[in-house]
Amino acid sequence: MPLFQRLIQRFMYLEKQRKQAGMKRILLLIGTTLFMASIGCKQSPAPAWEGYSINKVAEEKQGMVVCAHPAASQVGTDVLKAGGNAVDAAIAVQFALAVVYPVAGNIGGGGFMVIRQADGHTDALDYREKAPAAAGRDMYLDSTGAVIPGLSLNGHLASGVPGSVDGMLEAFARYSQLKDFNKLIQPAIDLAEQGFHLTERQAKNLNSAQESFIKYNTKKPVFVRDSAWKEGDLLIQPDLAQTLIRIRDQGRDGFYAGKTADLIVAEMQAGHGIITHQDLQDYHAQWRDALVGDYRGYQVITMPPSSSGGVALLQLLESVETFPLADYGFHSTEAVHVMAEAERRVYADRAEHLGDMDFYPVPIEGMIDPAYNQARMKDFDPAHATPSDAISAGTPAAKESEQTTHFSVVDKDGNAVSVTTTINGGYGCKTVVSGAGFLLNNEMDDFSSKPGVPNMFGLVGGEANAIQPGKRMLSSMTPSIVAKDGKLFMVVGSPGGSTIITSVFQMIVDVIDFGMTMDASVQSSRFHHQWKPDFIFLEPDSLPAATMQGLRAMGYELNIRGNIGRVDAILRQPDGTLVGAADTRGDDHAEGY
Ligand code: GLY
Repeated sequence: MPLFQRLIQRFMYLEKQRKQAGMKRILLLIGTTLFMASIGCKQSPAPAWEGYSINKVAEEKQGMVVCAHPAASQVGTDVLKAGGNAVDAAIAVQFALAVVYPVAGNIGGGGFMVIRQADGHTDALDYREKAPAAAGRDMYLDSTGAVIPGLSLNGHLASGVPGSVDGMLEAFARYSQLKDFNKLIQPAIDLAEQGFHLTERQAKNLNSAQESFIKYNTKKPVFVRDSAWKEGDLLIQPDLAQTLIRIRDQGRDGFYAGKTADLIVAEMQAGHGIITHQDLQDYHAQWRDALVGDYRGYQVITMPPSSSGGVALLQLLESVETFPLADYGFHSTEAVHVMAEAERRVYADRAEHLGDMDFYPVPIEGMIDPAYNQARMKDFDPAHATPSDAISAGTPAAKESEQTTHFSVVDKDGNAVSVTTTINGGYGCKTVVSGAGFLLNNEMDDFSSKPGVPNMFGLVGGEANAIQPGKRMLSSMTPSIVAKDGKLFMVVGSPGGSTIITSVFQMIVDVIDFGMTMDASVQSSRFHHQWKPDFIFLEPDSLPAATMQGLRAMGYELNIRGNIGRVDAILRQPDGTLVGAADTRGDDHAEGY
């Protein structure tokens, strides 16, 4: 980094520290002067920590990675520069995030990868967690049939069998260009062994989870310490490094057998969990056909079940396609009304029809039939909100025959990968596998523990998403890729539990209908309706006052909540330039070359 830039960065860092500590400016000047002097005589060691330089927008020609942490974006970009393709980079990013983004990045969880190669070939990888063999429909109910609060969310019993490691090995075997797995996992090993510096947000998150870590662990994990974490602290994860080394050296057996499996099973036994050696051996990621739909002449490539995300996204787009959203205008009352009514109907369908299609006959083709979704909007009332109690799931033709993290990658040849991966809640079930150093998911909460009883995202479900041994719990993750005239157009996805689908929906509509830039769309405020509860959820200060007034007059109840989505996306411009946009709602970072 040039000296001038380094000085500016140092000044900004000291200024921030000064503000936080309430120091007088004079002290800052002394600090800066000493630092400048030290650079001048080249004697003093470099300052320990200057903060990450985070790019919210990057424009590059060759390759682009946008993800939740700058160190992981850098790892992915380095892989691209070394000749790896987008899948190689995605694998490296998944492992790097498992180290530098423990709140959601993982090897103890699962996810979905959607691939579009430059020649138009598409593929989808389902590495979603599965219910252990000993899981059962009523496992979270007490003797009266009531759901036991927190049991599907915290601790050992909340965890599904992790899928991320098998998923990455599958993706490597089918698509790697580098053909050297060591090169993809070694950066993560180095970050775990040598440590990485916490961002301010990460330090805060870790501090707020201390009590849970103590409560839900049989041994004190690396994330627990006596004094508060602060920005710039170095987090070293030796046990995690050893687990990653076993995966590097033994592949699948480095996780699903041998020492790591023994540690997982021992952890389960210590904490009354139910995952066994057999469950681990039986876990296999699944290749699926990507769902492909059309929206105003754009091809939308997305994830089929066990995520509900892709089906619901295509349903939403088809539901609004006959409405002139561009004429209505961005965040106008009319546009929000149409989109919210589409969301209400689609989430009613989700609750009834969607589940793991390896276990339940999901009527996918009927659900994504444009005629079906347009018919669902037939009772749309332009002047009034339709109460959710008046809406139930439709009957699509049967086929014959939340913490989560998203990243987007494009390589120099135009191959694109869209990955959303999760351990569900922030830090999953809060339980770290002792000796193995990684957090387990609490994905079991994504099942419907009891018909009609909402999960942590307020989502309800029934038979389609009931717990069964070996079944994948229904997800909302919506990693997606949009193409136009045979060429890559956009790579998009988001974390956010039930709001993932509506965030991706809004991104696509923002760009295609409202002509927004990638950056403007990523940073714009979002809204969300999920049928039940019957609210439009809003980010604070999001919709114009007139729109809110108009919606209330139509009968909507507006519910202001925190952030909705955290989108990391890439747009390919007509001249081939890649624009990466990283959401300001997090430390997300766009990096390219
Ligand atoms: N765990 C959030 C989701 O998969 O939808």
